Amino acid sequence: MVGANLLTLALLVPAAVSSAIHPGAHRRQSGLDGFVKSESSISLQGILNNIGPSGSAVSGASAGVVVASPSKTNPNYFYTWSRDAALTLKVLIDQFIAGDSSLETVIQQYISAQAKLQAVSNPSGDLSNGAGLGEPKFETNVTAFTGDWGRPQRDGPALRATALIAYGNHLLSSGKQSVVKSNIWPIVQNDLNYVAQYWNQTGFDLWEEVQGSSFFTIAAQHRALVEGSAFAKSLGESCDGCDSQAPQDFWNGTAVISNLANNGRSGLDVNSILSSIQTFDPSATCDDSTFQPCSARALLAHKAVVDSFRSIYKINSGKEAGKAVAIGRYPEDTYQGGNPWYLATLAAAEQLYDALYQWKKQGSLAITQTSLPFFQDLDSTARVGNYSSSSSTYSSLTGAVQTYADGFFSVVQQYTPSNGSLAEQFTRDDGTAISARDLTWSYAAFLTASDRRSGTVPASWGGIWCQSSADAVPGQLGHWFLFHSKCGILVVSAVYETLDKH
Ligand SMILES: *[C@@H]1O[C@H](CO)[C@@H](O)[C@H](O)[C@H]1NC(C)=O
Ligand SMILES: *[C@@H]1O[C@H](CO)[C@@H](O)[C@H](O)[C@H]1NC(C)=O
Ligand SMILES: *[C@@H]1O[C@H](CO)[C@@H](O)[C@H](O)[C@H]1NC(C)=O
Ligand SMILES: *[C@@H]1O[C@H](CO)[C@@H](O)[C@H](O)[C@H]1NC(C)=O
Ligand SMILES: *[C@@H]1O[C@H](CO)[C@@H](O)[C@H](O)[C@H]1NC(C)=O
Repeated sequence: MVGANLLTLALLVPAAVSSAIHPGAHRRQSGLDGFVKSESSISLQGILNNIGPSGSAVSGASAGVVVASPSKTNPNYFYTWSRDAALTLKVLIDQFIAGDSSLETVIQQYISAQAKLQAVSNPSGDLSNGAGLGEPKFETNVTAFTGDWGRPQRDGPALRATALIAYGNHLLSSGKQSVVKSNIWPIVQNDLNYVAQYWNQTGFDLWEEVQGSSFFTIAAQHRALVEGSAFAKSLGESCDGCDSQAPQDFWNGTAVISNLANNGRSGLDVNSILSSIQTFDPSATCDDSTFQPCSARALLAHKAVVDSFRSIYKINSGKEAGKAVAIGRYPEDTYQGGNPWYLATLAAAEQLYDALYQWKKQGSLAITQTSLPFFQDLDSTARVGNYSSSSSTYSSLTGAVQTYADGFFSVVQQYTPSNGSLAEQFTRDDGTAISARDLTWSYAAFLTASDRRSGTVPASWGGIWCQSSADAVPGQLGHWFLFHSKCGILVVSAVYETLDKH
């Protein structure tokens, strides 16, 4: 797979991007559009700088290994996490599909690295029963990390499957079925088998702190199995193990309780916003049962999470409901001081851009009793109703949502250092960048949010097949995941393969 069309990584960098990091470059541009444009270039370069073998910030990392951050102390993030890497590659793959052919080599190197990583025995287990796929992080030379850690984390295989399926579907559309079958399907099949076999066991959440069932993990798993089933079919394969998950309820009537675990937290967590953007399907309608970004529940959950950060961060003071603010992971967070995160604040914007896309596509915006509080924050005259895109109410409501979404970007702009570097966090007191520098996921989050802002969306994953109608159980958000006959998910036993051809 990797033999053909190899460029050196130096050639991968588009000319416009290679010299992007000038201190103060984006300050010369006025307004948000200029910032988003220049910071997008910086973000793409920031990602490539953190990928081996040639990333300028991560010397020593093996080919295709996505390092979480160049930071080696306080905190040491010089490892590769399956989750961060998969989310990052999904971004690169979508940009590749959108026309940036320079990214193909790094994508292929990532795929080769994943084939090796799947076979590395580690403290979570190995490939014989798949358990090793739940290992959250590895050394950057493709060996196991053997220190203590919150393991396993069961979202990684699902997110990797989603990234590889996007690339695989693109190759299929250009007639490369045999390449997909020999090089991509075996990795995806291992990941799908893992999800199917272990979804019902607890694990650590995406913040690596809570042992339990995480909404984000379940959402990512559901998506992977739905699109995995269709991907298998298009290859003439079957999705061994994509069988039914049992109901799990994360919705308490007004908010998502992000972890089903005994952890003494409110349950409000940007986990639910990240879940919404992970399950965004541009072909779906505003469906609660798949937690689409424009669904009433996802909008109310957005409000609950955002409001939970208004009073706790000094930099948010004076910004009442309906005004964009800096967002962290969850209000009780104390890690590195418990600050706002760039990727969290960007996700709050992204969900709203996704929703705007969906309303525009369907030509109407409905306000229900559930979503009314979200809309009333933006426009006190908002009322329950269904507004066609030709109405003035539709225009004013979508205008208000756009302004609100842009507000989250403006918060990021305000607290981005003049050289454009995005760390993990910015302080709650004065917004100074803090914790791991040049966080790969921060840059990936910037790119997805800016793409959605400009109306660029990824391919459908089939969420539309799973829409509630007959199968959803009202009031039981968890039931959506799990698993409608319409999602076409079948089969039972898990088989893991080692890809020794790599
Ligand atoms: C891989 O990296 C780890 C951590 O730096 C190191 O301890 C180990 O010796 C390396 N293994 C190989 C095979 O290079
Ligand atoms: C596993 O499934 C059972 C039976 O459906 C359910 O009661 C339980 O909550 C599930 N456990 C997890 C961790 O998902
Ligand atoms: C749902 O959870 C949120 C966050 O913990 C809480 O504020 C709210 O009161 C809960 N709602 C219900 C109906 O229990
Ligand atoms: C809103 O109206 C449109 C067009 O009349 C219709 O297609 C859509 O189903 C309605 N939505 C809701 C939630 O009632
Ligand atoms: C960018 O600026 C930040 C904050 O001043 C600094 O910590 C960081 O080292 C700079 N990054 C680069 C690549 O110069």
